[in-house]
Amino acid sequence: MSFSLAIVGALMLQCVSSQNEPSIATSEQITLPVEGNVLMLQCNLTAANGVHEESYWMKNGEEIPETRSPNKNTEYRLNKPRADDAGLYMCVFTFEMGLPGNATIEVKSAPEIVSHKRSENKNEGQRAVLYCKSVGYPYPVWTWWKFKNGIFREIDNSTERHFVMSKDNYTELHIINLDITLDPGEFHCNATNMISSRDEKSVLRVRSHLAPLWPLLGVLAEIIILVIIIVVYEKRKKPEDLQDDDDPAGPVKTNSTNNHKDKNLRQRNTN
Ligand SMILES: *[C@@H]1O[C@H](CO)[C@@H](O)[C@H](O)[C@H]1NC(C)=O
Ligand SMILES: *[C@@H]1O[C@H](CO)[C@@H](O)[C@H](O)[C@H]1NC(C)=O
Ligand SMILES: *[C@@H]1O[C@H](CO)[C@@H](O)[C@H](O)[C@H]1NC(C)=O
Ligand SMILES: *[C@@H]1O[C@H](CO)[C@@H](O)[C@H](O)[C@H]1NC(C)=O
Ligand SMILES: *[C@@H]1O[C@H](CO)[C@@H](O)[C@H](O)[C@H]1NC(C)=O
Repeated sequence: MSFSLAIVGALMLQCVSSQNEPSIATSEQITLPVEGNVLMLQCNLTAANGVHEESYWMKNGEEIPETRSPNKNTEYRLNKPRADDAGLYMCVFTFEMGLPGNATIEVKSAPEIVSHKRSENKNEGQRAVLYCKSVGYPYPVWTWWKFKNGIFREIDNSTERHFVMSKDNYTELHIINLDITLDPGEFHCNATNMISSRDEKSVLRVRSHLAPLWPLLGVLAEIIILVIIIVVYEKRKKPEDLQDDDDPAGPVKTNSTNNHKDKNLRQRNTN
């Protein structure tokens, strides 16, 4: 017993609170990036009251598929680990009788902003929504900043038009009732955890609420110009039309009958 305790102590024992619970030795917690291409997470079941059944791995509370094995010493291999591999890993050992036992290994990394709203174009009076999404662990604390005249000013809920909503790896900034003079500009979301911090930029443009009418006004203007052209043209044309109507229809008819005669002649010639 004292022998196994000594080994377990040397191997960074995950504390065991009661004698009924199994003891599990784990590899140390780690901060990315690591040297080399592979990160091995290890759990060794060093003592248990019951008969060991199997083990598996979890990440952030979800079972990692295809990690179940009957081994008492279990490994989880991360190839070329990146920020999105960071998280709270847990190995779980199940027993024929009694509750499963588990141990956790933290894999930390700086936050990395993996997607964000690059630009938002809205009309005054509307609502703008900017967002940023991160990977990395622990989850960051999010802040929003407006960059104006060379100065970053933090944005919070205090203005009654700005709302910051953040959860774990995601944050949103809502700006309601957009103002064409106050609101356009450069916004930054900033993700900060114990390792480091990152930020990304979004550009907000605000148009006059007349702006969406401009294409319509353009079409209306075109229609009006067309109508004017037609009216003017028709007015100029009118005297001729009247003359035509007054003229006897004779010459037109003779023309067409002449055409018929020509055709008949041509047909006869070919025959
Ligand atoms: C687990 O056991 C293996 C040998 O079976 C050993 O190489 C490894 O260092 C142990 N890991 C820990 C975290 O105890
Ligand atoms: C891990 O162990 C703790 C305490 O022993 C227990 O409360 C928890 O439910 C276990 N979690 C899992 C996923 O087995
Ligand atoms: C963000 O965290 C949630 C759990 O809080 C997780 O389901 C989701 O996959 C995470 N997204 C990214 C991009 O890491
Ligand atoms: C800001 O207001 C929104 C909406 O009322 C709320 O969900 C959010 O938690 C608030 N954020 C802070 C930092 O108080
Ligand atoms: C993010 O905000 C923190 C806290 O204000 C600050 O220390 C850090 O420099 C900022 N990081 C970036 C990338 O803007």
